[in-house]
Amino acid sequence: MFYTSTDVFPKIAYRKYGEGPVVVLLHGFPADGNLWENIWPGLQGFTVIVPDFPGTGGSDGVKGELTIEMLADFVYDILQHENIVEAVIAGHSMGGYTAAAFAVKYPTILKGMAMVHSTAGADDDEKKEQRKKVIGIIRNGGKEAFIRQMVPGLFSASFQLKYSSDVALQISRSLELPDEVLINFYTAMMNRCDHTNVLKDMRFPVQWVIGKEDAILPLGKALKQSSLADINFVNLYKNCGHMSMMEQPGQLVRDLTHFLEYCYRK
Ligand code: MLT
Repeated sequence: MFYTSTDVFPKIAYRKYGEGPVVVLLHGFPADGNLWENIWPGLQGFTVIVPDFPGTGGSDGVKGELTIEMLADFVYDILQHENIVEAVIAGHSMGGYTAAAFAVKYPTILKGMAMVHSTAGADDDEKKEQRKKVIGIIRNGGKEAFIRQMVPGLFSASFQLKYSSDVALQISRSLELPDEVLINFYTAMMNRCDHTNVLKDMRFPVQWVIGKEDAILPLGKALKQSSLADINFVNLYKNCGHMSMMEQPGQLVRDLTHFLEYCYRK
């Protein structure tokens, strides 16, 4: 479904399934809400909201520069539209950066936060330089080469070999994203704030889903974050890269359900 919102977000698209306490699934880069298609059918007993971030799926892009805080506002807009006053947010990678920004801006709404291959930290200087290079490559017409090189690296080596058609599907979906949208996301991620300290003060539980073969978020860095909150659920996946929702969906459904039941004390 979709609706017309403000000038900033002219058209907002999201999916809504089920009934019960709310979980919002935020996709990462370079994807749209369909990234969670193996997950939402399994989250029985919950209302599942799955947005398409601006410029992806059915949502219009923003005019001008995008920030992670704007993505948090985008999520808040949907919750307001749905009259939702409490939610658990599960964010994949860029979606997790958004969840952390949401926690800062709208803390009273959150009953819990699942960081799926994500971190509350900011980019270091090396990562920022790398992002600037990629933005230059895309501006110079190199989107296809970038996507074809980047997307396979999101998966573990064994998954790439065994499930090459799933990797190819994700590549073709990513290629549909316009240059400007990819650049906007990269700019937003590059400029995002460090929310590590803020998370320490949050009163809700945090789940950390970590792939041992994640090339985007290395294991050591992910583990360092995983004791940040007062209550931490840590799920460490063997033979998994950055994409557990595609690589190990059954396990992720079980772990998210367990976490949601805890957050809502079901
Ligand atoms: C993502 O999966 O959302 C991105 O790869 C994260 C990033 O580039 O930092």
